[in-house]
Amino acid sequence: MGCLDIPNETVFTMEMTPIKVGAGATNEVAYDLKRLGVRHALIITDHGIMKLGLPEQVRTLLQEEGISADIYDDVHVEPTDKSFEAIASFVSGRDYDGFVAIGGGSSIDSAKAANLFTTYPAPVMDYVNKPVGKGVHVPGPLKPLVAIPTTAGTGSETTAVAIMDVLSLKVKTGISHRYLRPTMAIIDPLNTVTLPPMATAYPGFDVLTHALESYTSRPYDARPRHKPDERPVYVGSNPISDLWCEKALEYLGRYFRRAVLNGMDVEARTHMALAATYAGIGFGNAGVHVPHSIAYPIAGLVKNFSPPDYPQDEPMIPHGLSVIVTAPATFRWTYPVSPERHLRAAQLLGANVNGLTAAEMPEVLPRMLLSLMRDTGIPNGLSALGYGEGDVAALIDGTLKQQRLLVNCPRSVGTEELQQIIHNSFEYW
Ligand SMILES: [Fe+2]
Repeated sequence: MGCLDIPNETVFTMEMTPIKVGAGATNEVAYDLKRLGVRHALIITDHGIMKLGLPEQVRTLLQEEGISADIYDDVHVEPTDKSFEAIASFVSGRDYDGFVAIGGGSSIDSAKAANLFTTYPAPVMDYVNKPVGKGVHVPGPLKPLVAIPTTAGTGSETTAVAIMDVLSLKVKTGISHRYLRPTMAIIDPLNTVTLPPMATAYPGFDVLTHALESYTSRPYDARPRHKPDERPVYVGSNPISDLWCEKALEYLGRYFRRAVLNGMDVEARTHMALAATYAGIGFGNAGVHVPHSIAYPIAGLVKNFSPPDYPQDEPMIPHGLSVIVTAPATFRWTYPVSPERHLRAAQLLGANVNGLTAAEMPEVLPRMLLSLMRDTGIPNGLSALGYGEGDVAALIDGTLKQQRLLVNCPRSVGTEELQQIIHNSFEYW
């Protein structure tokens, strides 16, 4: 029984969604829903994707195989507690036996919520992570959910979290439980070829930060031991999540610029779609840390930034932009914890790391990120998004609420460290 005395964790978990990949994979959606026993499905998407016609095509494919399907296209881009409540009341009393999510993370996360609230109805805040919500565990398995991502970004098709803003508190949080993970994902690169450049670039940086944050997260065996039912969804970097992150970084280095510059480059689109899923598998188990934590208040406190290639009806900072903007400063700061991982990541992204001086080494990964940011038209730091000195306290305050993510940071991080990272993120070039 000596092992019970070991203070650190010795066990890690690795869970992922079964995946079907390839050009035209969407055409097999009815086969898979039938196989999963679905007869009456709800397709969940947003207005933008609806206009492109894919949800109607999927409905037709399902109907041809005798599966009836309704479409809910009212997903809020960057979901909120109110939009989760709206979808929960839409599904209540309707007898859907399965769900199809079509879109980016917002649609897939909303479908996870719809599935949860149909199967185990409860007020939204019951399931929301502590301390914002009650953190009630999902009681049991959910209904089949097939996710069809149309961006190469969030990796939500393979993760166990549904992210949303709690509007009254101006805080981003979510629901995390392994039962939220979709039953399967259909990764069809042809669904991403029409994305305009910035709707390719921002999600691409989400992929990049997922891979880098997971790869550098506090290792699973440098954490306290957990009982099996209390082990968090994010367990820390481990030998298996590392594999997925490394491959995602390699694909990003080779194909990210190409996908942004020429959307019809199917080879680049295919590898970006794979990179998004690989990084999703990596971070869905290891976890993300500082850039994703600061991203929450950066997006939540938006002033007047309106990104190109996005709906212009309200100011917003897309998730991928909110995460990349502090990444160069963060990875300069985390470098001393694991120099070899930072150098390896830079190398996978395409940097030559041979013959660097000791002074150059901590800079090589930030430099690779800045080069990708400049090449793809990312604004120059937090100041270009409208933030200044007067916002630092509020940004730190919002970040410190993300303890669920900050525990994944390889260094201990508090007000002073965040101040330094935020100051170094105001302007890069
Ligand atoms: Fe993300």
